[in-house]
Amino acid sequence: MNISITQPPQVAWASGLFSGGPLIRKSTCISSLANVFTDEHAWQAYPPHEVVYEVEMLDTASTEGALYTGVTHLNPGKVGDEYFMTRGHFHARREQGEVYCGLRGTGLLLLQDEQGAARLEHVFPGSVHIIPGFTAHRLINTGSDILSALAVWPSAAGHDYAALAQGFSVRVVEEGGEAQVKEINHD
Ligand code: PA5
Ligand code: NI
Repeated sequence: MNISITQPPQVAWASGLFSGGPLIRKSTCISSLANVFTDEHAWQAYPPHEVVYEVEMLDTASTEGALYTGVTHLNPGKVGDEYFMTRGHFHARREQGEVYCGLRGTGLLLLQDEQGAARLEHVFPGSVHIIPGFTAHRLINTGSDILSALAVWPSAAGHDYAALAQGFSVRVVEEGGEAQVKEINHD
């Protein structure tokens, strides 16, 4: 018998940086986040290539039933008084869930159902977030360090950004040095 023992990819828990596997990287700069932040003037004032977040994921199989693993690194910063955040999405296959684990920095995970009901969870090193199906999700960096979170999701899930073109029903802003949650009425 000739059973092989291979070296798996690794992630450094303190930084969320992968090593040892083929990776895919995607950088999201501020200019590609039109209509995501409330303060249009503050958004325009940024250099267009300012990076808001980067996603590094393992380049693994995308067959039905397979899982993707990636880490989002969300920079600290604000547009006006609104904290840097990811665009946020539903999964194209709405029933598919996801798991996030906080690795570095502090922030919030905004979760919103299809009826617009929102809730937030604290994200911190060691936090575990079970995102059910039919639930949009967005990371918000309320801290002064990079917020890094590892995610595992079904590769068949896909992303639906268009369904949230109107925005989430909650915004998180800094007021008096603290994170404040504001409800938005889209009616
Ligand atoms: O699968 C996920 O939910 C994450 O890897 C996100 O895609 C990542 O955080 C980037 O966010 P978004 O896809 O909303 O731009
Ligand atoms: Ni997702």
